[in-house]
Amino acid sequence: EVIVVKHLEPFRLSLEKLKVVSTRLRKDMIRGLGKHTHHRAAVKMLPTFVRATPDGTEKGDFLALDLGGTNFRVLHVRVMEEEQKMVKMDSQLCAIPQEIMLGTGEQLFDHIAACLSEFLDSQNLKGQTLPMGFTFSFPCEQKEIDKSILIRWTKGFNCSGVEGEDVVKLLKEAIHRRGDYDISSVAMVNDTVGTMMSCGYRDQTCEIGMIIGTGTNACYMEEMKNVKRVEGEDGQMCINTEWGGFGDDGSLEDILTEFDKVVDRTSINPGVHTFEKMISGMYLGEIVRLVLMKLTEKKLLFKGEVSEALRTKETFETKFISMIEDGLENAKKILTELGLTWDLVDARVVRLVCETISSRSARLCAAALATIVDRIRVNRGLPHLKTTVGVDGTVYKKHPKMQPSMHFLTPDCKIKFLVSEDGSGKGAAMVTAVAQRLALQSRLLEESDGEEDEEEKVRS
Ligand code: GLC
Repeated sequence: EVIVVKHLEPFRLSLEKLKVVSTRLRKDMIRGLGKHTHHRAAVKMLPTFVRATPDGTEKGDFLALDLGGTNFRVLHVRVMEEEQKMVKMDSQLCAIPQEIMLGTGEQLFDHIAACLSEFLDSQNLKGQTLPMGFTFSFPCEQKEIDKSILIRWTKGFNCSGVEGEDVVKLLKEAIHRRGDYDISSVAMVNDTVGTMMSCGYRDQTCEIGMIIGTGTNACYMEEMKNVKRVEGEDGQMCINTEWGGFGDDGSLEDILTEFDKVVDRTSINPGVHTFEKMISGMYLGEIVRLVLMKLTEKKLLFKGEVSEALRTKETFETKFISMIEDGLENAKKILTELGLTWDLVDARVVRLVCETISSRSARLCAAALATIVDRIRVNRGLPHLKTTVGVDGTVYKKHPKMQPSMHFLTPDCKIKFLVSEDGSGKGAAMVTAVAQRLALQSRLLEESDGEEDEEEKVRS
């Protein structure tokens, strides 16, 4: 076991190392926000044009679309001001088969438009054009809330002809190709933003959204004066950090292991989202598999005998990790199912490998979150900050170790975690609702300004 530990050493990141990682991320965030540095920045720090979190006066009916994992969802959401409740009236799930995830953009958007059509029919909503929020969980350069250009695909998607294009336009074109219904305004939202906004409706101190699921990312409320790429100095804007891209310029070279490099090389997007590949659900299982392979080849596991399953890419699912950490009985079952001949020592070693990989993921996430929380604290000139983070994603929800390990790097901040239920769907509706509230408020303000002008004229 001592030799096993030696092989796992590169995954163990000391507190000092994590602080170094956090300092690098802090610098990268500043680079991403800068007017002249952002186009070269690995951490993109994308403006979202979301300028406020909910204040509880939002209301109305909304449609929400949600694309980002292996499914596409449509929801009908009602925000009720009196009851301070956001209710999912109904929803529908459409699977996205892999040939579509890797096909053409036209196929993808036709599929989405068809799914939406079916839902509107079933809800008798085709006559109405409800305001719509679209949670699209990929890095987008937003020009306005309803204009959003895909920078690049991440996770399992790679549809042709979408990168560099406006996603709202592609959706509208697909709907027009059908011709059986139409939509009006669309607010584009990243899933981190949706999560922050739906948690923000329950707890108005929520100003950070974090996802640890298939991918990983976070957003937070930044001071407008620091968002150099968008005009205006007053107030705040939510920034989608796209922290998954941290390290894409080589800045994490010193903590990457040989296994991380293989995962990257064999992925559909080599060189893209280095940080994400060390943390999120799409990759953790594969890292464990590669480590188990290596230990077996070194005759430290399974008497040196690899099974066909273990040799095959992506057969070790990420969910096995938390199952194995839960108990040795699970470990034994899973190893048998993978066609391996194991003894008790093997089972323990496998559990150790799982623990090592998942704690690295948790510690890296904690370091990144600490960087954001501390930035908000410094922005406001506070000695101490109390804040709330809305969180979603299967890795966070299923992994018992994720949450407690989030605190250790932020001595000056107290972080409350709010787990989001249906955040990326409902959050899109909430973004739309808040945008409507702000538009209404500024219209009222203009009108009352107008009235004052009139009075001025009369007086003079
Ligand atoms: C990927 C996407 C990002 C998303 C995250 C979580 O990192 O690039 O936009 O928020 O996955 O789904």
